[in-house]
Amino acid sequence: MKELERLAAEHARAAVRLDKVGMKKEAAQKYKEAIRLLSRLIELTDDSMMKQIYMEKKEQYERRIKDLTESVYEGFRELSKQVKESGFAKDLIVENPPPITWDDIIGLDHAKRAIRESIIYPMKRPDLFPLGWPRGILLFGPPGCGKTMLAAAVANEIDAVFMHVDASVIMSKWLGESEKNISNIFKSAREYEAQGKAVIIFMDEIDSLTAARLNEVGGEARARNQLIKEMDGLFDKGKNTRIYVLAATNKPWLLDKPFIRRFQKRIFIGLPDYEARLKMFEYYARKLDLDGNVEFGELARITNGYSGADIYNICMEVQMKVVSEFFEEGSGDEGKPRKIRMEDFMEIIRKRKPSVDLESMEKMLKWASKYGTS
Ligand SMILES: Nc1ncnc2c1ncn2[C@@H]1O[C@H](COP(=O)(O)OP(=O)(O)OP(=O)(O)O)[C@@H](O)[C@H]1O
Ligand SMILES: [Mg+2]
Repeated sequence: MKELERLAAEHARAAVRLDKVGMKKEAAQKYKEAIRLLSRLIELTDDSMMKQIYMEKKEQYERRIKDLTESVYEGFRELSKQVKESGFAKDLIVENPPPITWDDIIGLDHAKRAIRESIIYPMKRPDLFPLGWPRGILLFGPPGCGKTMLAAAVANEIDAVFMHVDASVIMSKWLGESEKNISNIFKSAREYEAQGKAVIIFMDEIDSLTAARLNEVGGEARARNQLIKEMDGLFDKGKNTRIYVLAATNKPWLLDKPFIRRFQKRIFIGLPDYEARLKMFEYYARKLDLDGNVEFGELARITNGYSGADIYNICMEVQMKVVSEFFEEGSGDEGKPRKIRMEDFMEIIRKRKPSVDLESMEKMLKWASKYGTS
C-alpha cells in the first residue's frame, strides 16, 4: 500500500510538472498512470477517509485529462465513435491519434509529396485519376522518425474515416482469430465506403503479421494471407474504391515479397539530416525558456544519427532538469526555474545515445535501395 501510494504521488507530481510547462500529451500520460494506481488503492484500502481522498484525487486528475485532451481530440473522438458504433472490429480501433498537421512534421518532404499524390489528391478529385491510384502505401524506417505522425496528418487533412489499427494488437491472442479481425476491419471499412465516405486503414507495426516470434501457430500466415486477400479485393471492386491501406514498420525485412508487392508505394522515412535536426531543435525548444548561449546549429551538428523522437526527448529532459532543480531548491510553489543553458543540453546529449543503431540502419538502407519507391 505504502509503495503504491508513493508511486501514485510520484506520477502525480510528474504530471503536474509537465502540465505546468505545457507538455499536454506527456502530462495526460502521467495523470493516467496516477489514476491507475489510485484505482488500485481505492480497491485495497479499508480506511473510508483515505478512500474518499483517493477518489477525489482521481476525479480531479480525470477532469484534468479531459481538459487537456478535449479540444485537440474532438475530431478524432467523433470519427472513432462512428467506427465503434458500427459494431465491427471495435476493440481494434485505437482512439485519439495525436492532432498532427503537416506543418508539425519537420523535413520528410518527399514523403509528404508522395502521400499527397497518392492519397490526398485522388481522394479529393477521383475524376482526375482515370487509371486509378495506389491503394497500399508502406512507410518504413527507423523508430521515432515520423511514420505515425504522417499517418495522423493524413487523417487530419481529409474528411475520411480513420481506422488506426495496431497490427500487433490484431495478433493478440486475447482478440481471437487474427484473420477474422482483419476481415472485420475491411468489412467495416466497406460499410463506411458504402455510405459515401473515404476510409484510411492505418496499420502500425505491420511486420508483426509475419514475424515468427508470435506463438499462435500458423496465426501469422493466416493473418497475412487474409490481408493480402482483402487488399486484392480493393482492386477488384472497380476503380473507385476509396479505401486505403497505410502501413508502417521499422522492420521491413520481415515482410515477404507477395506482401511487399501489395504496397505499390514504399516510402522511406529516414533519420533527420542536419537541416531537419536544426528545425526540430528550434521547433521543440520554442516553448522553453532559453539562455542566449544556446546554439541550435551546434546542437544539430552533434546529434547526427539521432531520431526526431530522440531530439524531442532531449528537449524534454533539459526542461525536466531545470524544473527538478527548481523544485529541489524548495522554491517550487512560486517563481520560475532558471533559464536553460547550452551546458544543460550538452549534458543531456552526452548521456543519451542515439536510439537507432548502425547495424539496423544499414539493413534499412539496403532494403530501401531494393524495395523503396519515390
Ligand atoms: N519529422 C519529425 N518532425 C517533428 N517531430 C518528429 C519527427 N519525427 C519524429 N518526431 C518526434 O518524435 C515522436 C515520434 O514520432 P513518430 O511516432 O511519428 O515515430 P515513428 O516513425 O512512428 O516511430 P515508430 O517506428 O517507433 O512507431 C513524435 O511525436 C515527435 O515528437
Ligand atoms: Mg509509429
